[in-house]
Amino acid sequence: MTTSALHRVSRQDELAPTRYHEVYAGWLSDPEGFWAEAAEAIDWYEKPKTIFDPTAGVYGRWFVGGTCNTCYNAVDRHVQNGRATQPALIYDSPVTGSKRVFTYDDLLQEVRTLAAILRDFGVGKGDRVLLYMPMVPEAAFAMLACARIGAVHSVVFGGFAAKELATRIDDAKPKVILTASCGIEPGRVVPYKPLLDAAITFASEKPSACLVLQRPQVQAELTAGRDHDWAALRAAALKSGRAADCVKLASTDPLYILYTSGTTGKPKGVVRDNGGHMVALKWSMKNLYGVDPGEVYWAASDVGWVVGHSYIVYGPLLHGCTTILYEGKPVGTPDAGAFWRVIAEHKCVTLFTAPTAFRAIKKEDPEAKLLGQYDLSHFRTLFLAGERADPDTVVWAERILGVPVIDHWWQTETAWAIAGNPIGLGQLPVKPGSPTVAMPGYDVRIVDEACHEMPANKMGSIVVKLPLPPACLPTLWEQDDRFRESYLTEYPGYYKTADAGFKDEDGYLYIMGRTDDIINVAGHRLSTGGMEEVLASHPDVAECAVIGIKDQLKGEVPCGFVVLKAGVTKKPSDIEQEIVRLVRDKIGPVAAFKIAICVNRLPKTRSGKILRGTMKKIADDDPWTMPATIDDPAALDEIAASLKHHGIGA
Ligand code: COA
Ligand code: AMP
Repeated sequence: MTTSALHRVSRQDELAPTRYHEVYAGWLSDPEGFWAEAAEAIDWYEKPKTIFDPTAGVYGRWFVGGTCNTCYNAVDRHVQNGRATQPALIYDSPVTGSKRVFTYDDLLQEVRTLAAILRDFGVGKGDRVLLYMPMVPEAAFAMLACARIGAVHSVVFGGFAAKELATRIDDAKPKVILTASCGIEPGRVVPYKPLLDAAITFASEKPSACLVLQRPQVQAELTAGRDHDWAALRAAALKSGRAADCVKLASTDPLYILYTSGTTGKPKGVVRDNGGHMVALKWSMKNLYGVDPGEVYWAASDVGWVVGHSYIVYGPLLHGCTTILYEGKPVGTPDAGAFWRVIAEHKCVTLFTAPTAFRAIKKEDPEAKLLGQYDLSHFRTLFLAGERADPDTVVWAERILGVPVIDHWWQTETAWAIAGNPIGLGQLPVKPGSPTVAMPGYDVRIVDEACHEMPANKMGSIVVKLPLPPACLPTLWEQDDRFRESYLTEYPGYYKTADAGFKDEDGYLYIMGRTDDIINVAGHRLSTGGMEEVLASHPDVAECAVIGIKDQLKGEVPCGFVVLKAGVTKKPSDIEQEIVRLVRDKIGPVAAFKIAICVNRLPKTRSGKILRGTMKKIADDDPWTMPATIDDPAALDEIAASLKHHGIGA
């Protein structure tokens, strides 16, 4: 694809002048000066002695020598500076029919009480606390309470199964786990406690205590001696006036670990620090999102994902905004007008979500008739990320909303946008299909395998020149070597994003797909390698391959092919169902693994490499040619025929 294929929806002369080019050039000529100035927006106990120390950590560390507390900056300082009665967090839950507003003062009470409770369980600086929580306010309180006392939180998304949870427990070794009795999905209640109990049984590392938030929909059974009733502890702590103060932490101390899919079944524990994270997120709120303190900012994601960490909890609160914690879906809770209702009711100026949410709305209400019921006059910008924003969806959203629709590109690893359209600096023209330009902090290059830069409009691997900016991961949890091998070794001096794409002559980036086996399902990042490990564990499976195939709603969905062991007499259709169930049980419903196909053989090269790329092209009905190195061309024909049999491909 080249720029000529794209439809420009705006030109710079139709927009207010932008300061982007000047600001980006300023950063490039003096990165430390740029970040030193941004750091002024944070309250430090001791200001950093060194803005960037290239000798510290794996590739250097930001704000070395500074001391700070993220919870103080997100909560206490706003209470002290006149925002005590401003709503800090609005919980809006169409799935339970409840809504609650917490002012900054309320938030402070909740967070310091919970921090004291965690202290009572022996949790202190550097200890890990795992959160397996649905979208309830207590999840945000828990994250902030950990930050307050220097404990390192690790939130695990509720759609993951017990085995996935166990892997994370073993890696993070949490002292305490916080959970709720259930999550609520449209049409079904998901009891969390049995999943947590199973995970603790599978894990070799055992927490010393679990705090369980009992929700009215399900009462969880508590294991004597280990499990505690969250509400009872809260009531007792409030009665006795127990509260914990903020602890002074080094800028470089870890704030959280967030696990994300790697290329194997073993997830990567992305580490976030305190100082750099605050500085970059605070900068992004005004300059990228164009939002002011006191305004209402909504990220419709989940606290289990990086978007939830950065833009439901930390970013908006650091900036003194009101954040929305929404427990619902874009459609079905109760209808495709749910997002418009929340924006209108809470006066959100910005919405940030994944393109898949808009595809879901468009499918249910193509003419956006439900929009007519709501007053969105205060709504200024829609931001999309998490997966490629297809031009159709961008153009549709812009047409129905009449506001800029801004695609921006980032990863769990980075915590904030690598590329975006900086609304606060003055919007650049939107080119649908592109997340626009590199943010200050990121020197983004497109390179070939030998790390030579590619000319404009030519596809290559997307890399970022080191050092990465503040907030990006300094390493993987207790795995410096894996961090180096996964991200820094292949292109020396650069961070490998594992995304492929190109830059046009205006410097606009186009992110076209991953270079590894990660797929994006409804904005959720999943590893096909991890799914293959599950398929291979089925006793009747000899070999297997999982590919991501195009899906109109979710962008991509996984599709698995299995070759059965000789002598297996079970019906292939029964085995296919067993495999679908196995992935749901081992990885979780979030994998959305619903297509398993038994085949006689997998197409391979003569050297034995499975031709996943060609299989994907067939499934996606993209042009493909028979690879010259194929061992047995009939194997690809069989794949095409079996896909066709399942209604996939041509
Ligand atoms: N706990 C338990 N199960 C969960 C869950 C959770 N927190 N979140 C999702 N699931 C389950 C769903 O119920 C579904 O189960 P099913 O197979 O029984 O139907 C499965 O996991 C897949 O969920 P999802 O990918 O959300 O698909 P969906 O069909 O339920 O909904 C959308 C489709 C588009 C409405 C939904 O994906 C969505 O709202 N996406 C918004 C994007 C988003 O939040 N992205 C996060 C990054 S920004
Ligand atoms: P995650 O770590 O879950 O945020 O997933 C990160 C990956 O999602 C990136 O490496 C991309 O492959 C993809 N992604 C995120 N945002 C975008 C975007 N705006 N355009 C294209 N791909 C995106």
